[in-house]
Amino acid sequence: MPRPIHALIDLHALRQNLGVLQHTAAHARVWAVVKADAYGHGIERVLEALRGADGLALLDLSEAERVRAAGWRAPVLLLEGVFDARDLETCSRLGLWHTVHTEAQIEALSKHKTQEPHRVFLKLNSGMNRLGFAPHRYRSAWARLQALSQVDEVSHMTHFSDADGPKGVAHQMRVFDEVTRDLAGERSLANSAALLRHPETHADWVRPGIALYGSSPDFPEHDIGHWGLQPVMSLRSQVIAVQDLQAGDTVGYGSTFVAERAMRIGVVACGYADGYPRHAPTGTPVLVDGVRTRTLGRVSMDMLAIDLSALPQAGAGSAVTLWGRASTGEVLAIDEVAKAAGTLGYELMCALAPRVPVHTTAGA
Ligand SMILES: Cc1ncc(COP(=O)(O)O)c(C=O)c1O
Repeated sequence: MPRPIHALIDLHALRQNLGVLQHTAAHARVWAVVKADAYGHGIERVLEALRGADGLALLDLSEAERVRAAGWRAPVLLLEGVFDARDLETCSRLGLWHTVHTEAQIEALSKHKTQEPHRVFLKLNSGMNRLGFAPHRYRSAWARLQALSQVDEVSHMTHFSDADGPKGVAHQMRVFDEVTRDLAGERSLANSAALLRHPETHADWVRPGIALYGSSPDFPEHDIGHWGLQPVMSLRSQVIAVQDLQAGDTVGYGSTFVAERAMRIGVVACGYADGYPRHAPTGTPVLVDGVRTRTLGRVSMDMLAIDLSALPQAGAGSAVTLWGRASTGEVLAIDEVAKAAGTLGYELMCALAPRVPVHTTAGA
């Protein structure tokens, strides 16, 4: 028997989430962001559920190769463009659209020999200061690209630093509008948070990632229920041992949890080597047979402890949901677990360990 842990990817939920985002940004086309192996869900695994998207946005040429090999014929956008001039050959061969954010990328394009001119997304650094041309350099970059025979259409793109929080998008929108106002070409600005919170950012193409996978981009201000999103990844395991504690007994490495009274605890086959966050403190929520309880003490490599004191019916073999949906239908949002551990749903999804078997379900 393998260890009882597995992750379940709910393709019905993914399709539903895509529908929610398409409905919210009804006039925009949707790039489904599938970088980082579809945020840990597995690109090939999720592709079918994303058929309704207008394109896939990702980072690595190897991921672009994979989606083409899996039969994806619609547009594919490289969010950071090419890392080397030779990558342009692959763009031509696979028909990839690519972001241009440096002079070196324009230079490489100008020397590239291609039958089919490329569609490019020129990136403006409107204030995040990660990728993109500074506002005073943007228009000349645009003019140079427009003049290249290797380039077909030039679209405009920027990325928000604060779409999920109180600072918002207005300052970056102002820069973007000023710089691109009279330039021809389609526009793409919105990540999940901007798509859901700032309709004025929708433009021609939206680029949701995290919301597709059922994590709220602005948790805890809003949870997935508020946005009508469903968890896509569920991490499930079982209780493999039970211990009865007396007052004063401790749990796990470092004895960080001390029982104040007699209690029953369960030991779950899930640890940080499975991708569960080691920094999740005592009290991190977990579901046992769909009922909420809490973790106790430090997470170890292969196991963690949970409180069964209020769950007398639970014991070895009881079903544990670390995040996502339990088989009873109860939901423990990945965002809640992430928050308890001082991180984000993004990190937990992407950190699902290769040793965890993954199954898919078509869901409800
Ligand atoms: C350029 C770009 N667009 C879109 C996204 C999707 O963002 P999110 O997952 O927050 O929706 C990302 C992710 O970081 C990104 O880097």
